[in-house]
Amino acid sequence: MEQAGPGVAEIVGTAVAVDLMSSHDGALTSRHGGSILLPVSAGPGSESRVDGEPIITVRRAGDLSGRVMVPGAKNSVLKLMAACLLADGTSEISNVPRIADVSIMSELLEAIGLRLESPETGVLRVTNPGDLTPVAPYELVERIRASINVLGPLLTRCGHVRLSLPGGDDFGARPIDMHIAGLEAMGAEFKVSHGYLEARADRLHGAEVVFDFPSVGATENILTAAVFADGVTRIDNAAREPEVVDLCRFLVAMGADIEGVGTATLTVRGVERGSLRPATHRTVPDRVQAATYIAAVAVAGGELEMVDAHANHMDMLLARCRDMGVDLEPFTTDGVEGLRVSCSQRLRATDVQTLPYPGIATDYKPLIITMLSVADGVAIVTENLYPGRFRYVEELIRLGADIRTDGHHAVVRGQPRLSGAPVRAHDIRAGAAMVVAGLAAEGTTTISGVRHIDRGYDDLVGRLAAVGADITRVED
Ligand code: EPU
Repeated sequence: MEQAGPGVAEIVGTAVAVDLMSSHDGALTSRHGGSILLPVSAGPGSESRVDGEPIITVRRAGDLSGRVMVPGAKNSVLKLMAACLLADGTSEISNVPRIADVSIMSELLEAIGLRLESPETGVLRVTNPGDLTPVAPYELVERIRASINVLGPLLTRCGHVRLSLPGGDDFGARPIDMHIAGLEAMGAEFKVSHGYLEARADRLHGAEVVFDFPSVGATENILTAAVFADGVTRIDNAAREPEVVDLCRFLVAMGADIEGVGTATLTVRGVERGSLRPATHRTVPDRVQAATYIAAVAVAGGELEMVDAHANHMDMLLARCRDMGVDLEPFTTDGVEGLRVSCSQRLRATDVQTLPYPGIATDYKPLIITMLSVADGVAIVTENLYPGRFRYVEELIRLGADIRTDGHHAVVRGQPRLSGAPVRAHDIRAGAAMVVAGLAAEGTTTISGVRHIDRGYDDLVGRLAAVGADITRVED
């Protein structure tokens, strides 16, 4: 194995450095035992720009035009990868986005005992040799929220697990009480010591789990834990996001017995430990990345064909975008779904509130607020999932947006135009919103904190540049 020149990327996060190595066939491997990590690059963990951190510059360039392939969903693929803990053998996941979070999840799963390789771009082969170490260490868990998704599979598979407690996020606290209460109802015992959550259950049993709120992560953990539980588990008020449905389909392909997929009541009949088999699965397309290209056209104008955008995963968002004056037309080419988005007028303001699926996702909100910043009129945006998720508003105000926040509400008074300035990405979705804002701003917008964008966006800069945006990524 030789070290690749330009293909080598370094992720130097708050605690970890990951060297990506290239094998002879171009597949990327990590230095921790030869498994795959996808080629990404990201900057250092500190908040201010330091040497080596890439930046993105964006200038207003007028209409966008062309075709964009929508990549696979981050919030699905990470869970599919974790689900591979359940079945011995080699599963294959396709439509895998080239994002930093896939690399971090790969590292976590390797530490637990899986082997990951990428025989070709966008494909991950995950081998579970059966001999697992059910420990998720702090250095990895703190970097990626989805690490909590190893809890359910490891507990049901190994009977015990030691997981570093996940911290909060830049947009606020992210408790896991519903995950714990659900697993306790299934017979698990928890204790916390030295920052670690220790869970034990020789064999979980089926239970009625009723969520106060349809948590995505808690639904996924109870679902995966229930796969080998003794008897029937019923999850009421389950999350229905397309990414949860994608996980259900993967589990069913592995041999799990799940009813009610896509509804608020999931019924799982436990099967014998060891009876799941590896499966092949294509990751559902990323509705948040699709929404990002919609927002780009909405503020810059023009027409894009988004290939593999699933309109039926974004119904409520599309309705609000149509209210704002964006034209959206689903199409199918050669059996592949897509969405044509065009906009030739100034946007109209409309009120929006975030809700669990099928409502408008909180992850769309920074994009929506950016659109409203240049719309005609005043709009009220209400955040119902993460009250603190407004930090990027300060950055939009630096670009000339008129936004006031009060608790979990924002009042956005649309301006004819924004004006470019240096801004910072505070999280993945906020970072994408800064890029979109740059398309609506006179002059140059310079975005730091690009590592956040790299966590969840597969070549956002390249995809936008290919359809006419004046956008450049500058590696220091
Ligand atoms: N909540 C609790 N207790 C729990 C679990 C959740 O109070 O035990 C609360 C949360 O604090 C929050 C709400 O319930 O207020 C929603 O949390 P949920 O569990 O649904 O979110 P998650 O599973 O932690 C996923 C996505 C997020 C996305 C949310 C909501 C992943 C890895 N993350 O998080 O995506 O915002 O669902 O749709 O799937 C992103 O991709 O940038 C991102 C943050």
